[in-house]
Amino acid sequence: MKTFIKSDYKEACKIAADIIVNKVKNNPSAILGLATGSTPIGIYANMVQAYKRKEISFAKVRTVNLDEYVGLGESDNQSYVSFMRRNLFDHIDVDLRNTYLPNGKSQNLEVECERYNELLQSMRQDIQLLGIGSNGHIAFNEPNTPFTSCTHVVNLTQNTIKDNARFFPCAADVPTQALTMGLSNIMNAKEIVIVVTGSNKAQAAYDAFKGSISESCPASILQQHPSVTLIMDNDAARLFSLRTVLHKHQ
Ligand code: PGA
Repeated sequence: MKTFIKSDYKEACKIAADIIVNKVKNNPSAILGLATGSTPIGIYANMVQAYKRKEISFAKVRTVNLDEYVGLGESDNQSYVSFMRRNLFDHIDVDLRNTYLPNGKSQNLEVECERYNELLQSMRQDIQLLGIGSNGHIAFNEPNTPFTSCTHVVNLTQNTIKDNARFFPCAADVPTQALTMGLSNIMNAKEIVIVVTGSNKAQAAYDAFKGSISESCPASILQQHPSVTLIMDNDAARLFSLRTVLHKHQ
């Protein structure tokens, strides 16, 4: 695993965006696994800048997203499909027909999970971008999700509902379910970039990458992936450096 510790969120985003932009430069029809939440916003802004500077074209890429809220669709501001349009797709030359997310409005969620799972089998991510939840989740794979999981419907934990309430008028408006790629779908990516910033993520980062590999911390499975780049800012890496300092002085 490659680890970068940057001074702040902005610097962490730059390096993550550079990795994705270089991937597309080397392979213009790359399959990009994309994420939502606060963390990717600055990464997408850097990718948009690279496109506007004419350094890169996304015309041939295909994208798959990690997850979507059950009940929300394109016309809902808080849906992940509209997040992707607003923060990335509407500002670059990607063909929207090549962008895929689970359909949160599907009338049959089990069938939708099967459809998305099949899609993922035919579209192995060349690179998968990830954030991490303060409880160690990746995508919406909450603690104790089996490592073998594929795309599934998840009941969101109170912790995640509380964390995501900031995007909604109030916590009661946060959907209680989501469709998410499973951990095996994420591990199937050829390469993974995970970006972890802010002191509220320090414990999750430490548990995921310095703790034991356990379903109680879903992100810890990434220790078993052959090609992971972990990008943190100083705040998120707080417990890593503390341990390093202690170690040096022992
Ligand atoms: P955040 O969420 O980027 O909004 O902190 C990350 C996640 O929950 O995976």
